[in-house]
Amino acid sequence: MPNILLIGNGAREHAIAEAVVRSARNPGLFAYMKANNPGIANLSRGIRLGGYSDMAAILDFARANETAFAIVGPEDPLNEGVVDSLLTAGIPAVGPTKSLARLETSKSFTRNLAEKYGIPGNVRFRVFTSEAGIPEFIVALDEVVVKPDGLTGGKGVMVQGDHFFNKEEALEICRQILREHDQVIVEEKLAGEEFSLQCLCDGKHVIATPPVQDHKRRFVDDKGPNTGGMGSYSCEDHSLPFLKTEDVAAGLEITRQFAAAIYRETGTYYKGVMYGGFMITRSGIRLLEYNARFGDPEAMNILPLLQTDFVDICEAIINGTLDRLPVTFDKKATVCKYIVPKGYGLPKDHPDAQSTAAGIEVGDTGQARLYYSSVDKRNDGLYMTTSRAIGVVGVADNLHEAEIMAENAVAAIRGPVAHRPDIGTAALIDKRVRHMETLRK
Ligand code: AMP
Ligand code: GLY
Repeated sequence: MPNILLIGNGAREHAIAEAVVRSARNPGLFAYMKANNPGIANLSRGIRLGGYSDMAAILDFARANETAFAIVGPEDPLNEGVVDSLLTAGIPAVGPTKSLARLETSKSFTRNLAEKYGIPGNVRFRVFTSEAGIPEFIVALDEVVVKPDGLTGGKGVMVQGDHFFNKEEALEICRQILREHDQVIVEEKLAGEEFSLQCLCDGKHVIATPPVQDHKRRFVDDKGPNTGGMGSYSCEDHSLPFLKTEDVAAGLEITRQFAAAIYRETGTYYKGVMYGGFMITRSGIRLLEYNARFGDPEAMNILPLLQTDFVDICEAIINGTLDRLPVTFDKKATVCKYIVPKGYGLPKDHPDAQSTAAGIEVGDTGQARLYYSSVDKRNDGLYMTTSRAIGVVGVADNLHEAEIMAENAVAAIRGPVAHRPDIGTAALIDKRVRHMETLRK
């Protein structure tokens, strides 16, 4: 009956909370949240509201409830060094220390590590601290992607053809980034299909969970601005329709090599989730980025499928014994769709962009699972903020059924909301398969 501290307040953490509470170990869940997530609060024996940089408050809450360990959901508290503070207080955590979270928080750390240790899947890249050398490097590449070196909430990456259109603009963007960040990364632009491989790591052993495809664009058919993710799907065969069997194995192997490299480089074992954002290109797998946590929405795809006790997994991560724990998942398909306020992700001058704090009503969502994100439960009902509000997840024998289940749930949620009806549909998936076929020709 361990007491467990969960840090985070999104739909990802709601899914984590559910996995914890489902445990046969009958754990007591204690949630430290920036804002009150009614779904997490419902599953918890105690909650505390506070900021993710308030280490004293987090430690006080953990100690008061004698929590055996902590699970850190989002990247912000990792970047604040919450795991370091917890470890100093004798509380182990599922989540890397601040230094090891550089896997996510510093794109230069990750690219340089891959280069130093000869890990496959890296792209042509260079890190710049000033403008010097950038024009020469850009000229040598076909098309480029420009990234600030730091946490940007998934919205800082600038892609040629999407955000800018020629090398002069690329250089100007580099200049702008260098005004706000110490370093800018310039890399070759790749073409292909992306997938998320969320791996569990105890420092020495790495286990993959089923691959998931997220949908970053705000509108149907991958149009519109990038968002935190509008929804995602996974398949009953634990692959994706556009992947070859060796692709998932290659992503896992890259992640294994990263875990080993991190230990050799820092002398510290990485404990937590290594979420690889990979792209399958015509010439094989490439690494776009790592996240040091589960994905949001991708956690909602894989945690409901987990057959292994999640608390056992957490303890194996902490104890370095993941090799001794069989980690298995239901052979089911999942489709997650995010319900967002109409104005979510839109530029400020868009007519729909103004919606704030609108109320929503949740009717009968059927068999779908429902994970709250940025919603506020008040006496007179449920209110949205400006962020993603609720994730609904269909889990079924195949994608078609899972997609219908998710759509039925969406239809039961009323208010000034939007979602992407195309996620998980045969039409969109066929398009991705054809895209890969064309590239591989
Ligand atoms: P990241 O935060 O590095 O994953 O980048 C965010 C998004 O930018 C990715 O999901 C891709 O869609 C895109 N992206 C990043 N790096 C590249 C690249 N080298 N080539 C093409 N697209 C990229
Ligand atoms: N789904 C993208 C992320 O969690 O960063």
